[in-house]
Amino acid sequence: MPVQQICTVVSMEQLDANTWWMVLEVGKLVFERGLCGGQFLHIKCGDGQLLRRPISVARTQWDEPEDTAALIFEVRGEGTKWLSQRKVGDKLDVLGPLGNGFNVSDGSRYLLVGGGIGVPPLIEYGESPKWSKVAVLGFRTRDKAFPAVTSRFEENCEQTYICTDDGTLGRHGFVDGQVRDIFVKDKNFTGILACGPKPMLKSIAKIAAEFGVPCQVSMEERMGCGVGACLVCAIPMKDGTMKHVCKDGPVFNAEEVDWDA
Ligand SMILES: Cc1cc2nc3c(=O)[nH]c(=O)nc-3n(C[C@H](O)[C@H](O)[C@H](O)COP(=O)(O)OP(=O)(O)OC[C@H]3O[C@@H](n4cnc5c(N)ncnc54)[C@H](O)[C@@H]3O)c2cc1C
Ligand code: FES
Repeated sequence: MPVQQICTVVSMEQLDANTWWMVLEVGKLVFERGLCGGQFLHIKCGDGQLLRRPISVARTQWDEPEDTAALIFEVRGEGTKWLSQRKVGDKLDVLGPLGNGFNVSDGSRYLLVGGGIGVPPLIEYGESPKWSKVAVLGFRTRDKAFPAVTSRFEENCEQTYICTDDGTLGRHGFVDGQVRDIFVKDKNFTGILACGPKPMLKSIAKIAAEFGVPCQVSMEERMGCGVGACLVCAIPMKDGTMKHVCKDGPVFNAEEVDWDA
């Protein structure tokens, strides 16, 4: 069950002109309610914004006196701009834990595939010693591949491949090409955990089906309530039903999603 609580900003680091790494004290949300990476928090962004804004949890930590959750976000509009102006010690009105996170099991081997601001929700999965993992991380350009983020994968994964759209770092091109090349040589993965823009997820889902590797995707939709009550975030499934990204997701099995809707 999500709870509404006041959380304190304990760290605020600017990664570039419009990207921020914020750490919040979240009471006992990690220890008592299992808050984990890939879930999201719904944050009230000032008195001027009626609707809360969903931001994924990048990593969590049990701590004293309070657990912490790291959020990495880009400024897109008024809500995230307000969030970026918060200072250490400021209080935020937060609803969470929300959403499901990836379904993982100890001793497995995962291919983590992230694109842009879809990379941070994979950090906790990339850092965990409970399973083996290979990471493929895609960014528009070198300046968006923040070492504070990529090093967490490089230090903890068997291998980390970086791709950039403009070829300024790592492999030139989208992540799909790298994923395909990996599977041609090595399909020995329990599954893919993917987070990023919808065209990237669609393409990874197709490659996963082609190579017969199970694939979970974290979907992003505009949100209203965040708790399954307003239908704003509904997406079509292959079986003709609609599911709520906030309540049933944001993580879905790729073969459930109607990618052509
Ligand atoms: C489950 C979930 C997790 C998310 N996690 C993160 C995260 O970890 N880091 C991060 O930077 N962003 C994340 N987002 C996106 C973030 O919620 C939006 O960028 C934010 O709500 C925009 O609010 P705003 O008031 O700043 O902009 P608005 O003024 O509301 O919108 C500004 C622009 O952002 C676009 N936009 C608004 N909401 C979304 C959305 N949900 N998805 C895509 N585009 C949107 C609008 O189309 C518009 O172009 C997540 C979204 C979801 C649904
Ligand atoms: S945001 Fe209201 S149902 Fe998902």
